[in-house]
Amino acid sequence: DKAGYKHFMAKEIAEQPVVLTGALGHYLNGDEIVLPELGIDFARVERMVMVACGTASYACHVAKYWFEQLAGLPVEVDVASEFRYREPPITPGTTALFVSQSGETADTLAALRYCAAQAAPIVSVVNVAESSIARESDLALPIFAGTEVGVASTKAFTCQLLTLALLALKAAHVRGRLSDAALAERIGELRALPGLVNQALGIEAECEAISRRLAEARDILFLGRGRMYPLALEGALKLKEISYIHAEAYASGELKHGPIALVDKTVPVIVMAPHDELFDKTVSNMQEVMARGGKVLLITDSAGAAAAGDGVWGLIHMPSVTPLLAPILYAVPAQLLAYHTAIAKGTDVDQPRNLAKSVTVE
Ligand code: M6R
Repeated sequence: DKAGYKHFMAKEIAEQPVVLTGALGHYLNGDEIVLPELGIDFARVERMVMVACGTASYACHVAKYWFEQLAGLPVEVDVASEFRYREPPITPGTTALFVSQSGETADTLAALRYCAAQAAPIVSVVNVAESSIARESDLALPIFAGTEVGVASTKAFTCQLLTLALLALKAAHVRGRLSDAALAERIGELRALPGLVNQALGIEAECEAISRRLAEARDILFLGRGRMYPLALEGALKLKEISYIHAEAYASGELKHGPIALVDKTVPVIVMAPHDELFDKTVSNMQEVMARGGKVLLITDSAGAAAAGDGVWGLIHMPSVTPLLAPILYAVPAQLLAYHTAIAKGTDVDQPRNLAKSVTVE
């Protein structure tokens, strides 16, 4: 039931503070991260492969930053449909991690079975706890998002990210890369997440207004750097899925290696950039776009807005946030822009054409 919302997607976006609070409650006990019988000794893991499809694969791309930077673990990410047929060598010391909302995605399940046959320990991050992917894992971590009905994944994505952040912190601690005090500090940050997401939901009116303008575009580009690059990918996927507008995402630094040729005054360029250590680089990419008449929609915090200067076509004001939480929080504008652009175009938000909620055939 839609609980008074016009669409399941709207309900599921709004539910995020509540489900994230629930997930934190399941995984935290004071300053400790409690995982179901870990069964995998992260101190001995040498490398991880992370495999998923669609939005779940973007959660893996964010997690790669966390596992590499916090836990010092090399991570390779691949989409399941490529991974399963490439049959890459799984060297000893490799742990395989699969992310899936449904837990039944055919390609992801096949990739899992391939890794299991190579005797790799299998971790999964799933929403449906009784799913095939959960059952066939050594360690299945539920994301506690509750049932997700909208075809466009929203709350499952943010809950996947939270669960992956907790696992990365746990791995960093076990590997001696994070002291007790540093872990407690990071956990404190995560505890603030639901409140920040709630605050971020306050940008809905801004997103709605700008979405009416986005709805007129034929093509839209998304840019992001570092941990924001996977969020740009997610923003583009969400938008094309439900509004049918052609959208593509690039790592900001790739702009001048090709995509800038597309930029003119008809192509909005959505830049996802909290005021972090990479912000200045992103601003120079933005200026390259603006110098070619491109319309920049900048999604940033107050420090970013102040530093960006004049000339942007639109601005979405996000709460200020630590680097750990930024990729989770910036899912909210990605979702709201896609939702309101789809509404402005009059498409079927919850049941977009040609798509199924769960892709159980190849
Ligand atoms: O159930 P899964 O998480 O395995 O599904 C993976 C993708 O099919 C899914 O994330 C898809 O990309 C969504 N419709 C995106 O909104």
